[in-house]
Amino acid sequence: MRTLTTIGQLKGAVGQSVWIGCWLNGKRSSGKIQFLQLRDGIGYVQGVVVKSEVEEKVWNAAKELTQESSLYVKGIVREEPRSQSGFELTVEEVEIIQLAQDYPITPKEHGVDYLMDRRHLWLRAPKQRAILVIRAEIIRSIQQFFDERNFTLVDPPVLTPSSCEGTTNLFHTKYFDEDAYLTQSGQLYMEAAAMALGKVYSFGPTFRAEKSKTRRHLIEFWMIEPEMAFVDHEENLRVQEQFVSFVVQNVLKHCRKELETIGRDVGKLEAIQAPFPRITYDEAIKFLQEQGHEIQWGEDFGAPHETAIAEKYDRPVFITHYPTSFKAFYMKPDPNRPEVVLCADMIAPEGYGEIIGGSQRIDDPELLAERFAEHELSTEAYQWYLDLRKYGTVPHSGFGLGLERTVAWICGLDHVRETIPFPRMLYRLYP
Ligand code: 4AD
Ligand code: MG
Repeated sequence: MRTLTTIGQLKGAVGQSVWIGCWLNGKRSSGKIQFLQLRDGIGYVQGVVVKSEVEEKVWNAAKELTQESSLYVKGIVREEPRSQSGFELTVEEVEIIQLAQDYPITPKEHGVDYLMDRRHLWLRAPKQRAILVIRAEIIRSIQQFFDERNFTLVDPPVLTPSSCEGTTNLFHTKYFDEDAYLTQSGQLYMEAAAMALGKVYSFGPTFRAEKSKTRRHLIEFWMIEPEMAFVDHEENLRVQEQFVSFVVQNVLKHCRKELETIGRDVGKLEAIQAPFPRITYDEAIKFLQEQGHEIQWGEDFGAPHETAIAEKYDRPVFITHYPTSFKAFYMKPDPNRPEVVLCADMIAPEGYGEIIGGSQRIDDPELLAERFAEHELSTEAYQWYLDLRKYGTVPHSGFGLGLERTVAWICGLDHVRETIPFPRMLYRLYP
């Protein structure tokens, strides 16, 4: 193979003649000059083919090129401040690898179902590429945040014998002669890991057989789940607000070009700085009732409620102290008010809904046993989890951040389906 330069490396090759491997994104022609929009996945560059300066076969090869044809191009790198990459190639040679016939995604508007059926190709669109680059930067920032603070990355299992977040949306599978479920959350295992390693975080796929078809729900999504020994509810919130501000500011620092490609209003992201506002569930209910919403104390919020609350703020807001009655069995009740738990949901601004759910966990073995009875959970199936309260129990807290909702918010997308390369949704398993 010849030595190739990537579009990302053109900066160091100004004035030189280089080969790039690329696809044709688009083409314009003035009769004497052809402008080739080339992409190599890493970047975009315009190739300029001047009829009077190239051999006829080069001119003709350029003329034949169709959208998404693959090719090698040799050209001289020139600085071009008006182009997105900052460079242009004065084309000397064109070597076609394959002429693509009838690429199904044309610059005209397509419906979402049409594009989703061709997701494997749609990923090549500049906007989709930019989203995936930002997603990768978000993941990198997440890992950096926890690695720099001495958290250890721990991987919980994907196949589990029992549930973490209730039984209504479990994915069932056979595990030889036993029943197993795809994990809904690694939290319970992360609690065990926190007792072994102090501060831990996981990053992996989680699964929920959600029957709801909304713009915030995926069947398969990725979660970051930190768990911290000797950390209470208050400290848990401080970690979360530092964490989310860090991630947003990092994306602003490293992904300017991509944010521009997708048309994100970066002013909104610049405001994302800790501390974040906090309101209690009680205050939220009162506010919603004043706004004319039909909701009573003891009911969970729906998307419109979350949006109404979030609209008051320019940064994420914590809603704390939800009723014990509808929250998860492991959440620690407020000692002064056991009808509410020491938990918080972080609601993103601009109507993106809940991006984090977290809480202080029950550390008292008797109280946990009571909760098990109320929730009719099998003490046998969760014996290992109960053991954690028997052998050196300590106060501890943690949370889970949904990656795709976070990407949707940071990118300003109206649906989570574009935040993950191949979304798994209700009625969509292909491609
Ligand atoms: O609020 P959830 O259910 O919390 C837990 O699973 C805890 N065990 C986490 C923990 O404390 N370690 O889910 C956490 C986050 C939500 O805030 C949301 O961002 C995301 O996961 N999430 C989903 N994202 C996309 N599609 C779905 N179906 C989601 N369900 C939850
Ligand atoms: Mg939640």
